Amino acid sequence: MRPVIPFVSESEGVEREAWISALPEGLQDIGVVKPFADLTEDERRAAKVAIVANPSPAEVARLPNLEWVHSLWAGVERLASELPPDGPKIVRLTDPQMAATMSEAVLAWTLYLHRDMPRYARQQPRKIWLEHALKTPDQRTVGILGLGKLGSASALRLKANGFNVCGWSRSPKQLDGVETFSGASGLSDLLARSDILVLLVPLTDATRGLVSREEVARLPKGASLINFARGPILDTAALVEALDSGRLDHAVLDVFNTEPLPADSPLWSHEKITVLPHISAPTITHTAVKIVAHNIRRYLETGEIPESVDRIRGY
Ligand SMILES: NC(=O)c1ccc[n+]([C@@H]2O[C@H](COP(=O)([O-])OP(=O)(O)OC[C@H]3O[C@@H](n4cnc5c(N)ncnc54)[C@H](OP(=O)(O)O)[C@@H]3O)[C@@H](O)[C@H]2O)c1
Repeated sequence: MRPVIPFVSESEGVEREAWISALPEGLQDIGVVKPFADLTEDERRAAKVAIVANPSPAEVARLPNLEWVHSLWAGVERLASELPPDGPKIVRLTDPQMAATMSEAVLAWTLYLHRDMPRYARQQPRKIWLEHALKTPDQRTVGILGLGKLGSASALRLKANGFNVCGWSRSPKQLDGVETFSGASGLSDLLARSDILVLLVPLTDATRGLVSREEVARLPKGASLINFARGPILDTAALVEALDSGRLDHAVLDVFNTEPLPADSPLWSHEKITVLPHISAPTITHTAVKIVAHNIRRYLETGEIPESVDRIRGY
């Protein structure tokens, strides 16, 4: 008999509907995917693996024999902080298509900043005809915080487009043509040379508030910043002060402390901030379902659980 695989999610609307239709179809040869609310008591007890997307921890706790959960998201900070350390293992989504999508977003918004688009957009309503000196990509250094799946794909894409790229990670890394840094002194060195800083580290105890007032102050005058990681990694008040004082040029923010960004947030109308509604690299249903199906099939056949989140590091 095919095993029942719970789907636990607090997501609503179109996103939930998309999963509810794609998961049962994509996993039909492997098992029966059922939303948590439809599970019988026996099915809850029998479940060894569940698929989760922003799940309620209380619902996950009501699956007492889970060995692991497969997240449909790449960022799993909420799960990692809410599930007990001795609870089910957490496997996040690692999808090459997501890395391609994120690197495309990093390239797109880097080009936006590199070609002075925010400045020209500000000039237009004021009817200002003013040319700014053009820099070539190799005259611009882009610093990336985080050289994981998404950060390293982004670094290589920027490099291929002629930018001078450096990156920072927890452990030392080597990446073709990319100057790499690690550790606290490495962070200072990277910040000091980043004309554009891109945030792509996961949110953990160690990265919460990582880009604080001190780090913002280390960026060169006229630098810009892109946050595609998580809101709490960046001190937004320090960023806004640096933009207001003219020390920093522009910020592209896709992630915030509270999402959706509240209507009364001053960030919405700040002329040096581009607000995006967490869209830089959404999970793509059809590729994600294939990856989840592959991982769960292998587990059911061999007992092998994919690489999971290190509960001490938090990612
Ligand atoms: N905005 C969006 O639409 C969107 C979409 C998907 C993901 N995201 C965000 O992007 C994040 C990164 O995803 P990923 O798949 O690239 O993660 P990943 O493969 O786990 O890579 C994380 C990178 O960050 C580094 N890192 C972690 N903690 C650090 C610390 N304390 N100091 C220095 N470096 C540290 C890691 O260093 P090591 O290499 O040494 O381990 C690694 O290079 C996700 O966690 C998520 O929050 C955003």
